[in-house]
Amino acid sequence: MQNLIGIGTDLVEIARIKQSLEKFGENFLQKIFSEEEILYCKSKNNFFETLAGKFAGKEAVFKAFKTSRKNLEWKSIKILNKEDGSPFVILPQNFDSFQVEISISHTKDFAQAFCVVMKISV
Ligand SMILES: CC(C)(COP(=O)(O)OP(=O)(O)OC[C@H]1O[C@@H](n2cnc3c(N)ncnc32)[C@H](O)[C@@H]1OP(=O)(O)O)[C@@H](O)C(=O)NCCC(=O)NCCS
Repeated sequence: MQNLIGIGTDLVEIARIKQSLEKFGENFLQKIFSEEEILYCKSKNNFFETLAGKFAGKEAVFKAFKTSRKNLEWKSIKILNKEDGSPFVILPQNFDSFQVEISISHTKDFAQAFCVVMKISV
């Protein structure tokens, strides 16, 4: 059985992600994204759109949990992609009683994400 915990959404201006990367360089990437996420974004020909989509996804997850970044760190929320391209979320082990469904979209200028968090009870 699953119980709804919350929903979350975020809209990111891709230019701001570019600026952060220019300003903070590799530190920005390493602080926010896992290696798998970075590799995936680098494998795409729209690196910044994809990166911004994952950033929006993480913000959406924070909102859905209504939690601060102290309890759930940027990097510990991993937004990966299945073979068909659809995104899925991996949470840290202490969040393994939760399930997240996520959807991401991006254009040249903006990326947005929407997610639903459910509590799994057995
Ligand atoms: C893959 C697809 C969802 C991408 O849509 P798009 O408008 O070109 O691109 P968007 O910017 O809105 O979305 C891109 C994101 O969709 C997500 N995505 C990719 N494949 C997906 C899939 N099969 N299912 C769900 N989400 C998918 C990814 O998160 C992707 O971004 P990322 O690679 O950076 O993580 C779409 O082209 C598609 O093939 N849809 C298949 C379903 C279909 O036929 N829909 C028709 C509706 S009329």
